[in-house]
Amino acid sequence: MDALVVYESLWGNTAAVARAIADGIGPSTRVAHTGEVSPDDVVGFDLLVVGSPVHGMSLPTADSLKSVSRRAVGSGELPADLEQPLLRTWLRDLPETEVAAAAFDTRVKGFVGRGGASTIERLLRAKGCQVLTSGEGFVVLNQRAVRRAGSMLKEGELHRAQEWGAGLKRLALPGKAVP
Ligand SMILES: Cc1cc2nc3c(=O)[nH]c(=O)nc-3n(C[C@H](O)[C@H](O)[C@H](O)COP(=O)(O)O)c2cc1C
Repeated sequence: MDALVVYESLWGNTAAVARAIADGIGPSTRVAHTGEVSPDDVVGFDLLVVGSPVHGMSLPTADSLKSVSRRAVGSGELPADLEQPLLRTWLRDLPETEVAAAAFDTRVKGFVGRGGASTIERLLRAKGCQVLTSGEGFVVLNQRAVRRAGSMLKEGELHRAQEWGAGLKRLALPGKAVP
């Protein structure tokens, strides 16, 4: 099965989850951030998985990235990658397609930890994608200073992401889409 996992990620946490999901789906799965794959290239894939960090209980915006760009980056800290196109823009430019799809996000635990995967799902459905299952959230821990890419993820989340990917592969069989 040809699958594509697309993500946006500032400090590598969503990227690490994306890679783990791809591992779970299978070895030929392509993983790319929004700047590495054009929405037009989705044609030809059997499964599209899309992920983002939660910002402001939704997807990142130009304003949320601007707020990050204003933060001081201390010595030894990892600067945020602010060069990737917004996932919102990528999804806006996605052509109409009935490809099987699923959404995930990275979020903190608690009330504000929502609004990422559900927004992606809504945007995927608006393009005609067949969303296979409810979006999944992977938990990050608040860190004052990020020193290493992907280091905010709660222990065990990469394993869970891999298993979720394996489950998606099983679901991505014809006739399994949920309304
Ligand atoms: C501007 C900004 C707003 C955020 N808002 C939320 C939020 O509303 N809910 C939440 O769960 N996490 C929020 N977070 C935490 C992010 O989800 C966290 O930084 C992200 O999962 C890290 O993943 P990344 O390294 O792939 O960017 C916010 C982070 C930033 C920088």
